[in-house]
Amino acid sequence: MLQKIDHIGIAVHSLTESCQFYENVLGLTCEKKEEVVSQKVRTAFFNLGGVHIELLEPTADDSPIAKFLKNKGQGVHHIAYCTDNIDSQLNQAKEQGCKLIHETPITGAGGKQVAFLHPKSTFGVLTEFCCAPKEP
Ligand code: CO
Repeated sequence: MLQKIDHIGIAVHSLTESCQFYENVLGLTCEKKEEVVSQKVRTAFFNLGGVHIELLEPTADDSPIAKFLKNKGQGVHHIAYCTDNIDSQLNQAKEQGCKLIHETPITGAGGKQVAFLHPKSTFGVLTEFCCAPKEP
């Protein structure tokens, strides 16, 4: 079941430059910066009442974020929903005929399990499910 909006992902050319806007204009504090190798991005997280802004800067030309920036420019890239069970959430989407980018979750920022639904099936909004990492 979905629990809340976890974060909004925003594609940017430069984390350094965009962080200044969130820090100096909006007055938010950067919670952490992290490179996510699996998605070829560097990220910066801002927390606002439990909903996060995730800034995404590509680390390689073949990064999905590099492609997004080339096609659409900077801006909102995805919305991520927190779920208590990512496998059943993906199964439900699949059963409803939704096209999945990830059939099984991958490891995203913060070690969370994440998976994306294809924007062709989500009315143009790239949609992410994320879930706290499984206890070992
Ligand atoms: Co995300």
